[in-house]
Amino acid sequence: MTVLIKNYEEIKKINKSCQLAAQVLEMIKKYIKPGISTEKLNNICHDYIVNVQKAKSATLGYKGFPKSVCISVNDVVCHGISNKKEFLKYGDIVNIDVTVLNNNYYGDTSKMFVVGDYVSEKTKLLCLTAQKSLYKAINIIKPGINLNLIGKTIQKYVESKNFSVVREYCGHGIGKNFHEEPQILHYDSDYNKIILRSGMIFTIEPMINLGKHYVYLTNDGWTVKTQDKTLSAQYEHTILVNNNGCEVLTIRKEEYNKIIKI
Ligand code: MF3
Ligand code: CO
Ligand code: CO
Repeated sequence: MTVLIKNYEEIKKINKSCQLAAQVLEMIKKYIKPGISTEKLNNICHDYIVNVQKAKSATLGYKGFPKSVCISVNDVVCHGISNKKEFLKYGDIVNIDVTVLNNNYYGDTSKMFVVGDYVSEKTKLLCLTAQKSLYKAINIIKPGINLNLIGKTIQKYVESKNFSVVREYCGHGIGKNFHEEPQILHYDSDYNKIILRSGMIFTIEPMINLGKHYVYLTNDGWTVKTQDKTLSAQYEHTILVNNNGCEVLTIRKEEYNKIIKI
């Protein structure tokens, strides 16, 4: 397995794509309201990436994926396809996953939004646990540690809250390719025994379920749902391993004071 070590020039370009992706998530926040269709949200993101950022959506046409961002509502775990007949309603939870291609380099990030003011405490805790599990993993990253510690950290935290970690989808190296080595598992596994080194760039993107961890692929060939129909939440950041620890390349303004020791 070859995990690419990125040089300064590459890091600069990946960082730019990551910041563009993060800005799409900041931009879309005010449109997340009951009654809006997921198709409309997709189109707003698309127009922003293309017309304002002068960049490209990496998902549009990727292995035939038909939309510019992934929009995953409630029991959809990931890779949700927006639809003009799918309308957000009070209490829904929504993940928007944005991957931007700019200047030949990729940046990938996602976050949860809640629709309206009311969601149950349990649902809020699910979303918060997905986010905190990502932050906990970020906090342990530094050169010299085993990659496996990421998955261990996430799984331990998520299961301590009585939620479950999806096994079938993982984080990934990223740069000149949308998905490259290594695979970043979000649970404890002997699969990847590699040591992190400064200059590695990869995503961490835990998907966690309120019920059991089992998921299935629906017959559109993309949409992944929880088998037991319980809610699922996901947060994703693109991370650079550096000499001090790591840098969150897709950080949003609201997180500046938040990604500290939790
Ligand atoms: N952005 C997703 C990830 O985090 C991949 C989406 S691929 C798509 O890796 F085709 F579903 F868009
Ligand atoms: Co990703
Ligand atoms: Co993504």
